[in-house]
Amino acid sequence: MNYRIADRIVHKDESIRSKMLGIAAKLEGVIALGRGDPDLPTPAHILEAGQKALAGGATHYTAPQGLPELREAICTKLERENNLLYKPDEIVVTAGAQEGIYVTMLALLNAGDEVLLTSPGYTSYNQAVELAGGVVVTVPTYQHQNFALTAEAVKAKITSRSRILCLMNPSNPTGAVTPKAEIEKLAALALEHDLIVISDEIYERLVFDDSSVTSFASLPGMKERTITVNGFSKAYAMTGWRIGYFAAPRELVIPMNEIHHGLTICAPAVSQHAALAALRGSQDCVEEYRQIFASRRTYFRGVLDGLGLSYGEPQGAFYLYTNISSLGLGAGEFCVRLLEEAKVMIFPGSLFGDHNDDFIRISLLQPQAKLEEAAERIAAALPKLKGGA
Ligand SMILES: Cc1ncc(COP(=O)(O)O)c(C=O)c1O
Repeated sequence: MNYRIADRIVHKDESIRSKMLGIAAKLEGVIALGRGDPDLPTPAHILEAGQKALAGGATHYTAPQGLPELREAICTKLERENNLLYKPDEIVVTAGAQEGIYVTMLALLNAGDEVLLTSPGYTSYNQAVELAGGVVVTVPTYQHQNFALTAEAVKAKITSRSRILCLMNPSNPTGAVTPKAEIEKLAALALEHDLIVISDEIYERLVFDDSSVTSFASLPGMKERTITVNGFSKAYAMTGWRIGYFAAPRELVIPMNEIHHGLTICAPAVSQHAALAALRGSQDCVEEYRQIFASRRTYFRGVLDGLGLSYGEPQGAFYLYTNISSLGLGAGEFCVRLLEEAKVMIFPGSLFGDHNDDFIRISLLQPQAKLEEAAERIAAALPKLKGGA
C-alpha cells in the first residue's frame, strides 16, 4: 500500500526520540534524563483544585478562549511579573504552550515565509513552521559563546521574506538566557524589518544566579508585534495537564482563536481550574522547585567536569547541553548505546538541530539519588563507549 504521506511532512521516519522511548519501554530500571518532564509532583493545592473542579462538574467544554476568570488571572500575572498589560480578550488558553506554537504558525505563515529560529532549539518550532508551509531559517548559537543569541546573528539571516522571529528565553536545550541589552537590539531589528516575534517564556521562572528574563512584549512598541507564549508545565510541574496560553494583539487573537477551536475546541476544563489555582495560590512551590533544579544543576556540572565533558553554562531551565565530541562517537550512537548498555536515557542534540551529532541534552529531572546513580552508570560506561569500542 502506498500511503502517500503529505509532502509537507518533512520527517517521515520515526525520530530517534520515539526509537529510544520504544527501547526504554522494554528495559527495566531505566533512569530517564531525556524528556523535559519534571519528576516533581504538581503541588498539592493545584492538584486539589483539579480534583474539586472535577467533582464539581468541570467535565465539559469551556469557552474556546478559556475560562474568563483564568484569563483575568493570567493578565494579573503578566502585569505583576512581566510588566505586560493585556486584557482578557487578548489571551487564549491552550492545550500547553505547544498548541500556541502551532496556532501561531498556522495563523501567520504563507507559503515561503521565513521564520528565524535559533539553533540548537526546541524543534517543535521547526515542525510547526514546515507544516504551516513556512521556511525555517536557522540562527546559529555557539558553545564558546555559551549559546547566547545575538542580534548580530539574527540580522545576518534576515531577508525580504523574513516574517517571524522566535525567541526562547531561557532556551531549550541550552538554558541560555538572552540579556535585556540584546533583547533591545532584537526589538530594533523587529521594528526595522517588520517582524512578528514569538516570545516563548515557558522557562522564565526557572533562572539561576543573577539571570533574569525580560519579556519581549514589555519593550516599547513591541506588544503590537509580539505573541507571548507561556504555560504551566515547567514552573508548576504540570506537563500532563496540557495547559498553557498565549497573549497577542486582539486583531490576531480573533483568527488564532478560531484555529485553536479547530484544533482542540478548548483547553481541558479541569486543567484550566488547576491553572487558576496555580496563579492564585502561593508561589512558594515555584521557588522551592527552582532551588531543587539549581542544586541538581550544580551537582551535575561537577559530574561533567569530573568526566572532562564540556557544556554550555545554563542560566535557566533544567538541562545541560553537553559536548561529547571528545568521545569519538556520534551523539546518536552514544545515546542509544548508553540506553541499551547502562540504562540511562539521554537525548542526542540532533533532536534539537545539532547536525554535527556532537551534543547530548541531559535533563536534570530525577531525584538526587537517581542522578547520582545515573552519574555512576555513565562513568562506568564511558570507557566502553569511547572511540566506539
Ligand atoms: C521551549 C518550549 N516551549 C514549549 C514547550 C511545550 O510546553 P507545554 O508542555 O506547555 O506544551 C516546551 C516543552 O518542552 C519547550 O521546551
